[in-house]
Amino acid sequence: MKPFFPLLICALGLHFFSLPQSGVIPTPEFYQKSDGQPYQFTVITADITSLPTETIEVLHFWNQTFKHLSERTPVSAPIALKVRFHHSENNHQENDHYEMSFDGKFVDVSYTSDASLLYAYSTLLQLIEDNGEESVLHPFTLKDRAKFPWRGLHLDVCRHFFTVDEVKRYIDIMAFYKYNTFHWHLTDDQGWRIEIKKYPLLTEIGGFRDSTLNDHYSTVPRTWNTQRYGGFYTQEQVKEVVKYAAARGVTIVPEIEMPGHSRAALAAYPEHSCTGLRQPVTGLWGVFDDIFCSGEETITFLQDILSEVLELFPSQYIHIGGDEAPKTRWKQCEKCQSNIRKYNLRDEHELQSWFIQQIDRFLTEKGRKLIGWDEILEGGLSPNAAVMSWRGEEGGIEAASQQHEVVMTPGSHCYFDHYQGEPSNEPIAFGGYTPLEKVYEFNPVPAAISEENRKYILGAQANLWTEYIPDFKQVEYMVYPRALAMIQNLWSTEKPSYHSFLSILKDKQLALLSARNINYSISFAKPTFSLEKNTTGITLTASPEKARFTHITHPERTIFHSEDSLQVNQLHFSRKKNGADRLHIEASDADFNSISSVDLIRHKGLGLDVDFITPPHKRYSTNKELTLVDGISGHRPWNGKQWLGFNEGMVEFIVTLDKQITYRSVTVSMLDASGSWIHLPLHIELYTSSNGKKWKKIAEQRVSGEQTKIRLKGKAKQLKFRITPLESIPDGFPGAGYKPFTFLDELIFE
Ligand code: ACM
Ligand code: ZN
Repeated sequence: MKPFFPLLICALGLHFFSLPQSGVIPTPEFYQKSDGQPYQFTVITADITSLPTETIEVLHFWNQTFKHLSERTPVSAPIALKVRFHHSENNHQENDHYEMSFDGKFVDVSYTSDASLLYAYSTLLQLIEDNGEESVLHPFTLKDRAKFPWRGLHLDVCRHFFTVDEVKRYIDIMAFYKYNTFHWHLTDDQGWRIEIKKYPLLTEIGGFRDSTLNDHYSTVPRTWNTQRYGGFYTQEQVKEVVKYAAARGVTIVPEIEMPGHSRAALAAYPEHSCTGLRQPVTGLWGVFDDIFCSGEETITFLQDILSEVLELFPSQYIHIGGDEAPKTRWKQCEKCQSNIRKYNLRDEHELQSWFIQQIDRFLTEKGRKLIGWDEILEGGLSPNAAVMSWRGEEGGIEAASQQHEVVMTPGSHCYFDHYQGEPSNEPIAFGGYTPLEKVYEFNPVPAAISEENRKYILGAQANLWTEYIPDFKQVEYMVYPRALAMIQNLWSTEKPSYHSFLSILKDKQLALLSARNINYSISFAKPTFSLEKNTTGITLTASPEKARFTHITHPERTIFHSEDSLQVNQLHFSRKKNGADRLHIEASDADFNSISSVDLIRHKGLGLDVDFITPPHKRYSTNKELTLVDGISGHRPWNGKQWLGFNEGMVEFIVTLDKQITYRSVTVSMLDASGSWIHLPLHIELYTSSNGKKWKKIAEQRVSGEQTKIRLKGKAKQLKFRITPLESIPDGFPGAGYKPFTFLDELIFE
């Protein structure tokens, strides 16, 4: 028998409830407990003589990441759990198939690829339980394999920079959960992060910016942090990271953005823009008009850069960006226009397609494949290109129908820079709402794709853009546990229900994340609130059903404060007879010990009927029937859920009042977010009617802030609001010349 080497000094593990499932994430294809007693041990030993050094190092490293949990003195001589690795020559290597069993004496691992050996080991570490003194493994048999070959996580290191050690940690944790593709977003408007020897200014100038936006993009007025910010990776560091990832079965796909998102490169080499004007590396987020010119020298410049990139990254796919490239400059550029004529192109979209083809041909000649964001479909897809579908599923469906490979990453489910909980309870984020459950329900294969084209879907990926993620703790907060939900969709052929997934998190995985000191978010377990109207007001419901209201407080007095006497997850609030008051309400989910709160204005208008003459914009009309009278004020950072947005000029709607109540005033709440095309309207007119036919104007008031209070006199059955916005967005604001949005929320009746 071959010698066994200790892989671990002391035992490891955690104290767990016994789960019906394995508790392993991603869920293995087949797992069954076998007959026999649980085996108690203090060290893991393995036959590692035939394994590559890099692999042995990873096994050791993974053991150590759990070590602080097991820092206890063994009470007796070490007892070993013996692991034997067997390489299997079967033909399932491409989906990283492995099998593993424990008969009470040996753990036998049969693996097909280097990565699958690591996957088996990650599974084994997750199967080990702990009785407080020793680690325990129950006999089992298990078979497992990957569902999709592209299981990706992305990291933007341009908007904020992360060190080599942080990038390695990102890769290590993803590898532990069986991700195999790291999309390294290395260049963007706000920073160029990879050393290119032929063009040193890319990092010397392009790697640093002199200011960075404070707060959210949509917050006005804008303020700036003027501390110099930046950093880059040397080629030696890149090689080190590539090697580190390879040892973990992770391929790094580098992204070099073109023709858009190139302000950092153009700050260093302005001759590659259309105007030639020098501009600084920007510290503002968004999409910029200045992009790479399509001139011949620029194509050569980019190919030179890619030549060095190819030397560093052995991956088959090279990401060239391709997204969000306005054609403003190209329309006015002599070189670009002459290309359009010379190559007989119809417009600037076809010019972008031509641009990408030059890069595609270059990469193909070097034996690589081009992948780009779905905008590369516009103007015609280059012959060998693969598409990363981010603006929804359509780009992916279209590319697959043209028989091109696709990686799905629709913003709706795969953007981890979006909020994962109620925005008012979360650190500032880009926007959107992608909670854990939504990620869990993602299917990489779009429902609308034809059966024969499914084979072009390589898999999917979650993206982490870092405009609002200043440090690595925040990276982990945004990624975990959502990355555990995502890998269920990418790896598991037998995905359990979301409910079971939550028990796995509660009973096992959160402790594993803690053991590795990962700053995961608990937002998924915070109760959420929904509102419905009833005949006298509104009903507030906390979800899930097991959530319980625990506190209701009033600014001056605690109305209710008890864990015992309010064993409900539903509360009714009647329209108030007098004035308005502000309540702070808390609910908790005992399973995860998590609390969330909502601020509710109890006023005389709660739950009134609102009929819209002007329909709200369909993107900003969640809960349209109730939003204006649900007691919840829209807040900042704003999102489309608490506000009603209008974009059709004049806004008109009718509120039917409560006969039992006398009204003295109504306060209209509006949003001023000019960075997002949302402007305060000019004025508000009010009309009353007793029959809904004849209307009498009772007030007209200029809007001077986000809240406008209007006095009411006399009795009326109905009240019509007529809100006049600006004709168009004024010069100097984003969207100048277009119709502004009007965003409304609570009508506070007193
Ligand atoms: C992207 O999010 N602009 C690809
Ligand atoms: Zn040009």
